[in-house]
Amino acid sequence: MKREQWNSRVGFILAAVGSAIGLGNIWRFPYMAYDNGGGAFFIPYLFAMLTAGIPFMIMEFSLGHKFRQTSPQIFAKLGNSIGIKLEWLGWFQVFIAAVIAVYYVAIIGWTISYLGFSFSQSWGDNPNQFFFQDYLKLGNNSPSSLGDFQAGIAISMTLAWTMTSIAILSGVKSGIERASKIMMPLLFIMVLVLIVRVLMLPGALSGLNYLFEPDFSRLLDTSVWSAAYGQIFFTLSVGFAIMLAYSSYLPSKADINNNAFMTVLINCGFSILAGILVFGVLGYMAEQQMKPLTEVVSSGIGLAFVTIPTAINLMPAPYILGPLFFTALVIAGLSSHISIIEAVTSAVIDKLNISRKMAGAIVCGTGYLVSMAFATNGGLLLLDLVDYFINNIALLLSCLIELLVIAWLLKIAILRQHANQRSEFKIGAWWEICLRFISPTILCAILLKNLYTTLVEGYGDYPIADQLFLGWGLIGTMLFFAILINAVGKKDSFPTDEYK
Ligand code: PHE
Ligand code: NA
Repeated sequence: MKREQWNSRVGFILAAVGSAIGLGNIWRFPYMAYDNGGGAFFIPYLFAMLTAGIPFMIMEFSLGHKFRQTSPQIFAKLGNSIGIKLEWLGWFQVFIAAVIAVYYVAIIGWTISYLGFSFSQSWGDNPNQFFFQDYLKLGNNSPSSLGDFQAGIAISMTLAWTMTSIAILSGVKSGIERASKIMMPLLFIMVLVLIVRVLMLPGALSGLNYLFEPDFSRLLDTSVWSAAYGQIFFTLSVGFAIMLAYSSYLPSKADINNNAFMTVLINCGFSILAGILVFGVLGYMAEQQMKPLTEVVSSGIGLAFVTIPTAINLMPAPYILGPLFFTALVIAGLSSHISIIEAVTSAVIDKLNISRKMAGAIVCGTGYLVSMAFATNGGLLLLDLVDYFINNIALLLSCLIELLVIAWLLKIAILRQHANQRSEFKIGAWWEICLRFISPTILCAILLKNLYTTLVEGYGDYPIADQLFLGWGLIGTMLFFAILINAVGKKDSFPTDEYK
């Protein structure tokens, strides 16, 4: 079978940007900036982007482009060239993607429901109660006792899976690329329209003051730097098989450096736009409710499903601004979901040598069934717990090992040469310095800190047994199966001289 390919450069960049821009840009970044020094946060953020984000993206694009395969195969080949088994690292990344896929789709389901609610503000005048009690029907569950099935949530999740599967089954060109070409420009236009309208509202500009007001004293706080680094890896979708899969479909003449810069800059630029939008809304809301902004601001899920609906209630033409906002969320989420499912599907295609239709049906079918665990009373708690362990431990671990393998066990200069040979502007020695010294040191420090706090304090108030099984146990199981697949695989099934 000939490997599929992107049809155009724009198509590839829009797909990569579609993966990178996700719910995290809209509800994670703005709050994080506000909470970590406001305007001063941009210093560590830009530093992380330049020393980790862009170098990592160039590295993954080069790997995918060079080997034209997905994560497990790439690491198997890299390992072969130095005589060690590394395929497991690729599968560990694919499993991370698979786990994220099944809970991320639940949040997309909620945004689809809320898009429906937003036409008539069916959340009423107590959005907090509406979200947690009326919609999620959150009970006194623990993450492991799911409680009743919620058909309403399941229907929205089914819609999300339907759209993702259509894109995946239709293939790289006519599915993923075409979907990205429609969705991404639409997303940018909608966010710009929202910003223009929101900034005309009274109080909006003072909201921006809160976001951008620099508190330089926070720069001395190491947790601010680790927040910036953690956010960069998450926001760019690097380190868990996605960008490797997408770049494996690049044509041989692709400009790697330029594509990587564009993807990173568009993603980070979008984050800032989202920050402006969100804080504009918060500023307006604070003024309407005559409260200080510090009292209306919230993070994460609460921001999207409680605070924003409350603000929409106060707005002129809520039946227009509400649907616009939630459509933007749905698009941002779906394009990311497509990319995670593609990471898993393409790994299955490459490993089992089966058709896309077959692999896609297996992956989407299994994913669909597993994801239904989140359409329950306890779904939110399960999601919260799993998300914490995946983001703060598994993902950082995977990024760190990947870096150590490529920058220390192997000759990283080979990749730099590979990228520079086909790129208009060349990357210098700084690229190797970032990947060999700066990024691993900082990543290692963050990971150790996370491991320590999680071991000592645990996460949240969840029962210890749940943290052991659903947190540590999940990561252990993923590692176990990754190593198992690697162990039973044929030896020497790859030539040993492909990396030079
Ligand atoms: N980059 C995405 C974001 O910022 C994160 C993500 C990508 C999550 C792909 C899942 C899958 O939201
Ligand atoms: Na992102």
